[in-house]
Amino acid sequence: MGAVTLPCHRQRPYFRRFRKSTALVKSTKVLSLSLATIAVVAVLTGAVTSQAPRKMTLQERFTPRKGAAAEGPVQFFSMPGGKSAVNNNTPTRAREALTGFDNLTNGYFEQGPDFDTITEDNVEPLRSFNDGRFIFEEVETAEDGLGPTYNAQSCSACHQNVVTGGASQIAEHRTGHTFNGQFFESAGGSLIQSRATFPDIVEHVLPEDSTRTFRMSTSTVGEGYAECVSDSTLLAIRDAQPPDMQGTAPEVAVLEGDGSPGVGRFGWKCQHRSLLSFASDAYLNEMGITSPLFPDENTSQGQFVGFGTAYDPLPEPEDDGIDAQAFVNFMRSTKAPPRGPITPDAYFGEKKFNQIGCNICHVSSIVTAAAGTPINGGAFIVPDTLGSRTIHPYSDFLLHDIGTGDGIPIEPTPEFAATASQIRTAPLWGFRTRNRLMHDGLSFTADESIQRHAGQAANARDAFNALGDFQKTQIFDFLNSL
Ligand code: HEC
Ligand code: HEC
Repeated sequence: MGAVTLPCHRQRPYFRRFRKSTALVKSTKVLSLSLATIAVVAVLTGAVTSQAPRKMTLQERFTPRKGAAAEGPVQFFSMPGGKSAVNNNTPTRAREALTGFDNLTNGYFEQGPDFDTITEDNVEPLRSFNDGRFIFEEVETAEDGLGPTYNAQSCSACHQNVVTGGASQIAEHRTGHTFNGQFFESAGGSLIQSRATFPDIVEHVLPEDSTRTFRMSTSTVGEGYAECVSDSTLLAIRDAQPPDMQGTAPEVAVLEGDGSPGVGRFGWKCQHRSLLSFASDAYLNEMGITSPLFPDENTSQGQFVGFGTAYDPLPEPEDDGIDAQAFVNFMRSTKAPPRGPITPDAYFGEKKFNQIGCNICHVSSIVTAAAGTPINGGAFIVPDTLGSRTIHPYSDFLLHDIGTGDGIPIEPTPEFAATASQIRTAPLWGFRTRNRLMHDGLSFTADESIQRHAGQAANARDAFNALGDFQKTQIFDFLNSL
């Protein structure tokens, strides 16, 4: 691509210099300033003040500085052909991650007061799993900063099935246009906000924005474990994959860290490495609520509608960072999706799944970094409850071109251009809870999803199609046990 100038640059969201937050505490909420809270706020404000000597454009903020840190030694992962990295942490020595669709903590944060007793008046956002869950489910209104453009009123509106934090049938749309192989976002960003607090600022898709996709709401449960997988382990998984199936590990900015990038793993494009960066992004882009890491209000198709206009009564940031941290504490405390009953057919189905190479991308077992390992550019230290745990995500958390790319890169910049044709290997844990499949939700059955696997997954799909009906059914039984 070379040094392409970006004529759409002026259309990107307007970013002002971050002003240090004047403790804008929701009056209805009593905040417990525990030591942890102070530390969190110190990290947030420290990172933000040191990284904003002048106004940074969104593009600069998302251009990683420095190199990625290894985040400790490579840990075990399963890979066909004996290529698994073992080091000194075999799955037998690592403990299994906790699993369950039960709204109970994995131990990272304490369970807290009975969920049904928590109200807007007594919630202490950073106190416990149940408080974090309350904030994650809390329905926001314009008085809380919702909008002016947004997609839904709470995180759980899109992340709820079958427990808070799970996936859902809600799809959002992303659009733009592609000219000479270069993607240009729709005015105001590729993510379309489908709701607004005023009728004249609802975003619409322009006819010329012909690069379009739906993106399904993914699951966030168990993602505290995924966050604690070291970058070095994801890179080792990539390196163990055969050349024609090798994944891409995009280096993305960790907005709360020391400036070093990390290996993206969250979202259909692996667009974030840290849950705090993702949660802050979502708070702004799904709900229209600004916070320290995303301090500038969204536009309506490029038109500024933030504080100072008739559309937005609240100064930025609308959340002082407490809510964003509460979402993260909650997500980090969720258990991983549990398996359903493993029947003999499901058991043999997994064997077939492995034999035909599905598990080269849909990696069944990965061990998280050891407790004490600094990750996220030093902003998070792997805690004992999430460290050295074996997870079974059935994903490599890497991007692949299997012919389903939606044409929209992580960022419309040359270094991310290749990501336009790639999608993250869909983690298959929790598969039995989803009925609209693939990133766009346009596949209705497992078989239809498999038939869309081409490109880097063409061999695996062909091997699947060469199986007899009985073996195919066993693979479906296996998938439906996830
Ligand atoms: C309108 C629906 C909607 C709302 C509201 C919403 N999300 Fe999401 N969320 C999505 C979609 C869609 C994706 C996948 C987006 C993508 O990859 O482009 C996603 C992805 C995520 C992920 C990454 C999961 C993965 O795939 O690894 C996290 C973390 C997340 N959301 C957190 C949040 C938090 C925290 C909130 C509340 C502040 C929130 N979301 C509100 C729709 C929503
Ligand atoms: C080269 C990597 C790769 C291989 C090999 C591969 N997949 Fe996938 N798989 C993906 C990617 C990437 C997606 C997401 C694609 C999208 O959403 O557009 C996906 C999505 C899926 C989904 C949809 C999941 C959901 O929740 O929407 C299923 C089911 C699936 N794969 C099964 C299989 C099976 C069975 C095989 C072996 C025949 C296989 N895959 C082989 C990369 C791969």
